[in-house]
Amino acid sequence: MKVDVVLGLQWGDEGKGKIVDVLAKGYPVVARFQGGPNAGHSLHFDDKKFVLHTIPSGVFRKSTMNIIGNGVVIDPIIFREECLQIEGSGVPVRERISISKKAHLILPTHRIIDAASEAAKGASKIGSTLKGIGPTYMDKTGRNGLRVGDILASNFLERYNTLKSKHISFLKQFDFEYNADEREEEWLDAVEYLRSFNLVDGEYLMNSLLEDNKRVLAEGAQGSLLDVDFGSYPFVTSSTTTCAGACTGLGVSPSKIGTVSGIFKAYCTRVGSGPFPTELNDATGEELRKLGFEFGATTGRPRRTGWLDLVALKYAIMVNGVDQLIMMKADVMDTFDTVKIAVSYKIDGVETDEIPFDTYAEIEPVYKEFKGWKRDLTAVTQECDLPFEFMNYVRFIEKETGVPINIISLGPDRDQTIFREVLSK
Ligand code: GDP
Ligand code: IMO
Ligand code: MG
Repeated sequence: MKVDVVLGLQWGDEGKGKIVDVLAKGYPVVARFQGGPNAGHSLHFDDKKFVLHTIPSGVFRKSTMNIIGNGVVIDPIIFREECLQIEGSGVPVRERISISKKAHLILPTHRIIDAASEAAKGASKIGSTLKGIGPTYMDKTGRNGLRVGDILASNFLERYNTLKSKHISFLKQFDFEYNADEREEEWLDAVEYLRSFNLVDGEYLMNSLLEDNKRVLAEGAQGSLLDVDFGSYPFVTSSTTTCAGACTGLGVSPSKIGTVSGIFKAYCTRVGSGPFPTELNDATGEELRKLGFEFGATTGRPRRTGWLDLVALKYAIMVNGVDQLIMMKADVMDTFDTVKIAVSYKIDGVETDEIPFDTYAEIEPVYKEFKGWKRDLTAVTQECDLPFEFMNYVRFIEKETGVPINIISLGPDRDQTIFREVLSK
C-alpha cells in the first residue's frame, strides 16, 4: 500500500483538518509529518468543534491509528492540553496515538528564543506563532536537539539542562526580558505524561503498516507557500510543508507516495508577514474575513484575505506533484456579485505567470472576473445542484491548472462535502 498525502497549497488554514477528518473514515492510519503546535486544524461534527495542534485529525475515527511522525516538533504542555481536551469528550486518545521517538521536543526556552528573535526583527518580523517552532528546527539541524525518545534515558534531565544553558547563552545577544524557569515545572510534568504514550520507531512502524496493506493518509500542516525552501522566504515556517516532507517526516521512500491531494481555499488568506499579491485591504477583504471567520485557529489573529491566486496555486501544484484538488470555502463568497482570480502577475510592467525570486518585488495581479453565483451553497449535497456560475469558476481553475477538483467543501461540517470523483493510485 501507499501513503496518500493531503497538504495545503496556500499559506495554511486551507481546511486540512476538516478534510483529513472526513477522509480518515476510509484510512486505518493517519500520520502528521511536519510542523508542530503552530498548526491549528479545526474539525466540526455532531455540533461539536475541536482544534488540533499536534494530534493528527484522524483521532476521532474509531478504527484509525494516528501517528505523529519524526518530522513533527512537540511541545509536551500543548500536547497534554490537547489530549485532555479530547479525552474529556470521551475519546480514548492514548489508545489511538503513536509518537515517533525521533520527533523533536520544543523546550520552554525555544519559545523564549522565538519571541526574542521576533522582537529583535522589529517591523521585519516573520509574524511567527511564537510556539518555538523555528528555534526547535534550528536545534534539530544544528544537531543539538532533544527528541521524544530521549525522555526515556536516565540522563534526560541532565541533557535538558545542557540545552537550556546553551539557550540562555544564546539569549544574551538579545535585549529581551525573560524568565527561563517560568514554564519549566509544567513542562517536565508534561514530559512525564508524554512518557506514558506509545513511543515508537516511526519509520519501522510506517513501513510495516504499508507491508501489511494498510492505507496511510499523511496530513500536512501549514501550506506550500510557507515551505522553508519554496515559500516566500524568509516569511515562511521552518519545515518542509511540501510533499517531500511526507517522506522525510515519516521515513517512507518516494516510491511509496500514492495520491497527492492539494487543498486550497476558493480565495486566499495569510496570517503573519510576507508577500500576498492578491491581498484585499478593502471592504471585500473585510467581508471575506467576516463571512469566512478568518481568525487564526492557534493565535486568534485576524487573517489577511484576498482573491484566489492562480500563479501561486500552479506553483504549489508543480512542487508537490498534485494529482487532485480539494476546493474549500467557496460558500464564503455566496453573496458576492463578482468573484476574481489572479491569472498572472505584472512586475515592472512585464507580465509573468511565475513567482519571482525576489520576495519584495512589487507585484500587480492581473485578474479575470467571474459572475457571482448568488446562492447559498452550504446545503448543497450533490454536484448536479451546484449553480452554473459556480461550476464555471470550478471548471476555469481545473482548465488552468490541468488538475481535477474532486472534492468541494461548502461548510465547516463533515457533511458539507461533495465528492465528485475518488482518485486512488
Ligand atoms: P487548517 O489549518 O488547514 O486545518 O484550517 P483551519 O482549521 O485553521 O481553518 C479553516 C477554517 O475554515 C476552520 O474554521 C474550518 O472550520 C472552516 N472551514 C473548513 N472548510 C470550510 C468550508 O468549506 N466552508 C466554510 N465556510 N468553512 C470551512
Ligand atoms: P495550519 O497547519 C497559517 C505562519 C505564521 C507565520 C509563519 C511562521 O493551521 O495551516 P512559525 O510559528 O511556524 O514560526 O510561523 O508561518 N504559520 C501558519 N499560518 N496556518 C498555519 O498552520 C501556520 N503555521 C505557521 O503565521 O507567518
Ligand atoms: Mg489552521
